[in-house]
Amino acid sequence: MAIIDVKSFSKSFDGRPVHKNVTFSVQKGECLGLVGGSGIGKSVILRSLIGLEKGDSGEIWIEGEEISKLKERQLTPIRKKVAYVFQNGALFDSMTVYENLAYPLREHEKLEESEIRQRVKDQLDEFGLGDALKKLPAELSGGMQKRVGLARAMMIRPRVILYDEPTAGLDPYNTLKIREIVLALKKKGVTSVFVTHDMPTAVAVCDRFCLLADGRVADEARVEELATRQDSLLNQFIEGTAGG
Ligand SMILES: Nc1ncnc2c1ncn2[C@@H]1O[C@H](COP(=O)(O)OP(=O)(O)O)[C@@H](O)[C@H]1O
Ligand SMILES: [Mg+2]
Repeated sequence: MAIIDVKSFSKSFDGRPVHKNVTFSVQKGECLGLVGGSGIGKSVILRSLIGLEKGDSGEIWIEGEEISKLKERQLTPIRKKVAYVFQNGALFDSMTVYENLAYPLREHEKLEESEIRQRVKDQLDEFGLGDALKKLPAELSGGMQKRVGLARAMMIRPRVILYDEPTAGLDPYNTLKIREIVLALKKKGVTSVFVTHDMPTAVAVCDRFCLLADGRVADEARVEELATRQDSLLNQFIEGTAGG
């Protein structure tokens, strides 16, 4: 069964169509790379997958449930199993790293304070962020902020993770750290959609790619097929971005 099923998704802003007919699905445990030029609508799709954005038409199914028509209140269980790793980390500036990570637990789970403390500490250790516990986001480097953002998204132990350019602007060390985290989560059976312009990382973590162009999925291939379809749209895109 597909974990994510997007059927004929369309969306316009101020009469300007961004998505005209986007259809794709993601199987259990798969990591789908969603690529395409800037402004093509990758973030809009990710936001729509957790109901932060509503399409004009089409359907979005998550684990067999159509979520595109759900009301805000009905989306809570979806957001408990689908984590969105925001492009900029989206940390709460006035909260310490500890409080940032505790927040989703307080939102979604009824836990004793001692249990929250343990879960946050374990998570920070796992992400190599133990020293950052009491810091505010502004006191961290960009790479650390992104890792804290990822660690926070993982607090709810999601079954699906949507990554929005998780390595953008990162140095090689932090890029490698993120790559390791994504691969480790994949090993645990997490299903994911990976939006990026960082093609070396994408090729390392994704099983399959969909290329968005002109409001739809213009090309699609498994990662191992890329070598044998050299003149495809996907190859042109991947080689173009990798080269420049
Ligand atoms: N809330 C919004 N209001 C108006 N236009 C928007 C809004 N969100 C996105 N857009 C437009 O939709 C297009 C796709 O945006 P986005 O999904 O952020 O692109 P990508 O993530 O692929 O770079 C862009 O042209 C953007 O300006
Ligand atoms: Mg984007």
